[in-house]
Amino acid sequence: MFLVLGASGGTGRHFVSQVLADGHRVRALVRSPEKLAKLVGDNQRLEVWPGSITDETIDTDKLVTGVDYVVSMLGDVNAQRSAKINTAFVKRLVPSMRRHGVRRFLYQAGGLSRPYQGQLSSLLWGIRYTLARGYAGQHEDNEAVMEYLATEGNDLEWIVHRAGIGSDGASKGVLERSKSFSVATFVDCATYSYRLVMDDSAVRTCSLSCYASS
Ligand SMILES: NC(=O)c1ccc[n+]([C@@H]2O[C@H](COP(=O)([O-])OP(=O)(O)OC[C@H]3O[C@@H](n4cnc5c(N)ncnc54)[C@H](OP(=O)(O)O)[C@@H]3O)[C@@H](O)[C@H]2O)c1
Repeated sequence: MFLVLGASGGTGRHFVSQVLADGHRVRALVRSPEKLAKLVGDNQRLEVWPGSITDETIDTDKLVTGVDYVVSMLGDVNAQRSAKINTAFVKRLVPSMRRHGVRRFLYQAGGLSRPYQGQLSSLLWGIRYTLARGYAGQHEDNEAVMEYLATEGNDLEWIVHRAGIGSDGASKGVLERSKSFSVATFVDCATYSYRLVMDDSAVRTCSLSCYASS
């Protein structure tokens, strides 16, 4: 059972379709169940929980009960300009995961988000403060999640994928863990994150992803 946060998003919708197609079960917390239904269709193995991560009445203990993997593909650029909504939710979720013995957590961040105590190249800083300056709040939120996981979550098997997504559209190839990133499609990022969440060697890493050379 995968708990997917951000299931109706650019990456999340592909992720959900892929894991369902492989016969897994999915629990999705979504603001709009109708939107998710249009994107991925009905499926007996898909359990939809209507709700927002900003709703403090969401019972995170119930949400993680029976879950094997938690996957976050959350993002709300506007809300993240003024508040670290992902970090606040992850800080509620992690204690619930501990209480229920759920250990593996994949969090998809962005290639322009700096890992805790890590560095961004001058090229990436340049892009972040020019072309991507509208996403500053999202990067800061993703960075706060990475800091929290690295400083307070090391009893869990957390994995951060710092994706470099540029567009929707067809697959452009196979992404691999890397020190540099490719501008990828949502479907390729979803496929890669799916592989990554199963990869023991990725635990407690915050890597980028890059297309394998053919
Ligand atoms: N898009 C890019 O080009 C890009 C590039 C690099 C990295 N990333 C990273 O990848 C991650 C996912 O990005 P994405 O572009 O795939 O996502 P996205 O298309 O922006 O979708 C975000 C998802 O989060 C959900 N969400 C937002 N606020 C929520 C809330 N309060 N409660 C519940 N769900 C909420 C959205 O639900 P609704 O459908 O209801 O809005 C949607 O399902 C982010 O961390 C982002 O930084 C994205």
